[in-house]
Amino acid sequence: MMYHSIFEIVNTDCMIIPVFQSSKKDKKVVLPELVGITLDHINFFDDFSGKKMEQLPLYIDNEMVPRVLLVGLGEKKTLSICDWKKIIGAAVMTVQKKKWTSVSFVVPPEVVNLSNLRTISKETVIASDMAAYSFDTYKYKNNKTAEMKLVNLFFVGVTASQKSIVENGITEGKIIVDAVNWCRYLGNTPPSTMTPSFLAKKAKILDNLTDVSVKILSRSDIQKLGMGCLLGVARGAKEEPKFIIVEYWGAKKIQKPTVLVGKGITYDSGGLSLKPTKYMKDMKFDMLGGATVLAVIKAAAGLKLKKNIIALVATTENMPDGAAYKPDDILTAMNGRSVHITNTDAEGRLVLADALCYATKYNPKEVIDFATLTGACMVALGGERYGLFTNNEKILSGIEKGAEVSGELVWRLPLGEEFTQTMTTSDVADIQNATETSYGGASNAAAFLEFFTKDEDGKALYPWAHIDMASAIFGSKGKTWIKGGANGVGVQTMISYLS
Ligand code: BES
Ligand code: MN
Ligand code: ZN
Repeated sequence: MMYHSIFEIVNTDCMIIPVFQSSKKDKKVVLPELVGITLDHINFFDDFSGKKMEQLPLYIDNEMVPRVLLVGLGEKKTLSICDWKKIIGAAVMTVQKKKWTSVSFVVPPEVVNLSNLRTISKETVIASDMAAYSFDTYKYKNNKTAEMKLVNLFFVGVTASQKSIVENGITEGKIIVDAVNWCRYLGNTPPSTMTPSFLAKKAKILDNLTDVSVKILSRSDIQKLGMGCLLGVARGAKEEPKFIIVEYWGAKKIQKPTVLVGKGITYDSGGLSLKPTKYMKDMKFDMLGGATVLAVIKAAAGLKLKKNIIALVATTENMPDGAAYKPDDILTAMNGRSVHITNTDAEGRLVLADALCYATKYNPKEVIDFATLTGACMVALGGERYGLFTNNEKILSGIEKGAEVSGELVWRLPLGEEFTQTMTTSDVADIQNATETSYGGASNAAAFLEFFTKDEDGKALYPWAHIDMASAIFGSKGKTWIKGGANGVGVQTMISYLS
C-alpha cells in the first residue's frame, strides 16, 4: 500500500473520520473541524454515538470525498494506542470489503497526543497495512482480496513544516509492517511447503540486507555440535532439520549482541504422543517463534538500528515414524545435560534447549526466546496476550514498555523453584521434558528452558527472558481489526524494545 501525508483533503474513495463518544444530551456527534465537511444537519446519535470500535458509513454531498466512514474512539480518557490501531485496522477491513481502494484517515490531535507525531504516523501505517494483509497466495484470482492502493493521513492541526516528521514515521512504519506481514506469510504457508529447508531458504534472503549474514547448519553440522535434543525431535521427520543463524551487526562488534531464539517446529503432530485431530489443526503455526525472530532482524536491518542482534532458529518437524523418538528415550543436549522424554509433544522446549546452549557462543548481552510453547499459556491468558517469563526486571520493563508503545499485550507469568523442582525429579536423567498433570504447564515449560540458561552450579549464563506466544498468535477469532491466521505478534514489541 502507498502512503501519503497530506495536510489538505484530497480525492479518495472514502474518508475515515474518528469521533469521540458523545453523551446523550449532546444529541449529535462532534466531528473534528475539517475543510468542507459538515454533518451538522444530521442527527444520527441513535445510529452512531462514537463508542469504541463503532462504525457508520455515510454518503455525503462532497466531490472530493463522496464516502465517509465514521469510527468511534470511545471516551477520551480511555483511548490507548492499542485501541487506535484496532480502530484503524477495523476501518481498513470495512473499506476493503467494499472494494474501495483509496482512503484518507483523519488523525485528531488527541490521538497524536497519545504519543508523538512520528510514532502515531508509524503506528497508524502499521495498523493499516496489517489489516489490509491477506494470505491469498493459494486463492484463485477472482477470490483474492481487493488491494488497498493508497492511504492519506490527514493530521488535524499539523502544519506543513512537520511534514518530514510524518514522512519519517510512515517510512519506519512501512519497514516494520512489511516484516510483520512477512512473518505472517511464513506462518500461514501450508506445512508441507513450509519445511525446515524452506524456512531456511526464506531466512537466506535476509543475506541481501546490509550488515546481515545468514548461516544454515545441516543435520551433520547439528550432529557435530552435539545438539541431541534437536536431533531427537527430528528423528521421526522425513524433512531434514536445520539450525538457522542470522547475524545483524548494526553496531561496533565489541558491543555484546542481543540473541533472539525462535522455536521453528514447521509441523507439530505431537510425534508418537500424537495429538488428537482437534489439536493438530493449526500446528503449522508452530514455527512462528522462529518467523518472529527472523522478521525482527528484517525490520532492524531495514531501520538500520545501531544494535547487534542475532537470531537463532532451531527448526524441524515433529512427526511419528518408525524412527521417531519415543517416550522414555533419553536425549542429551549440547551442554551435556540429559533429558528424560516423558511426552514427545513437549518438543518445543527440546529444540530450544539446544539453541539456548548455542547462544552462549555469542557472550550475549541478553537472550530472549520466542515460542508457541504451551496450550497452558492459552488457558491462562486467552487469545491476545503473550506470557513473559524472566527474573530480569530490566528486560521485563523494557518489553512491557515496547508492548505498550506498539499496542501489543503482555503479562508476566512466574518462574520459580517449585516449577524447577517438578521438572528435575526424573530417576533416569537430569531433567524431564513434561509432567503428568497440565497444571502450571506454562511455568513448567519455562522452568525447563531456564535450566539450560544456567551452568552446573546453577549460575545464570546470561540475562534471559522467555516469551510463550501460543496465546497471542492468531488473527480473527473475534478480532475485527485483523484477518485470520498468523498475526505477526511480537515483532513490533521487539523492534520498540531494541530501538
Ligand atoms: N506447539 C504446542 C503448543 C501449542 C498449543 C501452540 C496450541 C499453539 C497452540 C506444544 O508443542 C505442545 O504440544 N505443548 C504441550 C506440552 C505438554 C505435552 C506438556 C501442550 O501444551 O499440551
Ligand atoms: Mn507439541
Ligand atoms: Zn509445539
